[in-house]
Amino acid sequence: MNDFSDRKLKSHGPCATLLAGLFPLAFYSALPLLSGGTERPTALPRTRGGHKLEQMLRASFQIRDLTIRPAAILAPMAGVTDTLFRRVIRGLGGCGLLMTEFTSSEGITRSAKKTLRYLYFQEDEHPITAQLFGANPAVMAEAAKMVEDLGYDAVDINLGCPAKKVVKCGGSGLLRDLPLLEQIFRAVRAAVKIPLTIKLRAGWDEKSIVAVDVAKLAESVGVEAVAVHPRTRVQGYSGAADWNVIAAVKQAVKIPVIGNGDVNRPEDAERMFRETGCDAVMIGRAAATNPWIFRQMQEFAETGGYTIPTEADRFRLLIDYYGQICAANLPDGVGKMKQFACWFTHSVGNGSELRRIVHTARTPGEILSSVESFFEGRATAVARATGAQEMVDPSPVGAGRSEDPAHGPSQHQRCEATLGT
Ligand SMILES: Cc1cc2nc3c(=O)[nH]c(=O)nc-3n(C[C@H](O)[C@H](O)[C@H](O)COP(=O)(O)O)c2cc1C
Repeated sequence: MNDFSDRKLKSHGPCATLLAGLFPLAFYSALPLLSGGTERPTALPRTRGGHKLEQMLRASFQIRDLTIRPAAILAPMAGVTDTLFRRVIRGLGGCGLLMTEFTSSEGITRSAKKTLRYLYFQEDEHPITAQLFGANPAVMAEAAKMVEDLGYDAVDINLGCPAKKVVKCGGSGLLRDLPLLEQIFRAVRAAVKIPLTIKLRAGWDEKSIVAVDVAKLAESVGVEAVAVHPRTRVQGYSGAADWNVIAAVKQAVKIPVIGNGDVNRPEDAERMFRETGCDAVMIGRAAATNPWIFRQMQEFAETGGYTIPTEADRFRLLIDYYGQICAANLPDGVGKMKQFACWFTHSVGNGSELRRIVHTARTPGEILSSVESFFEGRATAVARATGAQEMVDPSPVGAGRSEDPAHGPSQHQRCEATLGT
């Protein structure tokens, strides 16, 4: 076992010991972070002066004594934002705060193996928030305490999940029961010393937009930041996020307000800061289609332009990430690889063929080798067509690197419908 895991076990007691038993810690710790180098910058036309942008894309913000630098947050995404994916994001740079996917407080307190796996994280993921869902104040409080004992920097309560089986016992269902919500906030607040945050939707439906009421209630009982995804539960992921709700929450409370929803490019982030006055932006789906988006935002703030990842960059990131999933021997490795392909391959030439081969493969190893063959085939075809020597950079895959940016939204709607919570 590595130094870090030893140290964590000593400092965080029985809870961490339990978690450590569930993970191949030595393996995870040995993984390099993809580094945040800046090869081949391809500046886009400067759209605004760097100085002005720096003020708009905030360099940092505080959640009580926790400094988040830069003010950009990876949104929790069930099935996506596990430790491997979070470390890809952290390694590429520009993301100030990572969050786990939502985790059942009932599962944590029962020490259910599968649930505890969601709480595994590595030291280089700090600062990191664990997100909990549930509806029983005492259970939520106990789970939050366990999260604190594991060494998380903050704990977040999910008030946004629209899934049917979740709304019966938490998630956005709680937006219809403010008295219960208050009990939960108070119980969790009393149980932990680390910062407590919430992430909410605008309301249950368009007739009950409660984001401002919930944010005020939360602030009054000691919640220290609020993230707003301004769609209703009924909306799911359809329509546009109504950023006016973020602005209204910002006007109503003094605690930091984190804006979320439909930030697909650095320009969107700058616009969200400007139009809502929010303290930080949180990015979900665009980080899965374009994991470079956070560093693009930083570059955009500093220079007014940002670089775009090449197909070779995408290849390396995909192969690195898939290689890590294979090596981690995750029980849901194949599902994870298919899901990621669904998000990530739309900007790759002949991406539909790539998705087809990923979806027909049956084991992580099979997926990895078919992706490698796919890109080798593309490299040869492109080289033939263009007369170029090489399309794919010959650097060894897995060597620490990073890059540039990418695109926005892309056509992943079909995947969202099945994957979104
Ligand atoms: C696949 C998927 C899983 C999600 N899981 C969670 C979750 O576990 N907790 C949560 O608060 N929100 C979850 N969300 C919502 C996102 O955090 C975010 O609020 C939403 O996608 C809007 O932001 P975006 O436009 O940047 O994607 C999920 C969204 C998606 C697409």
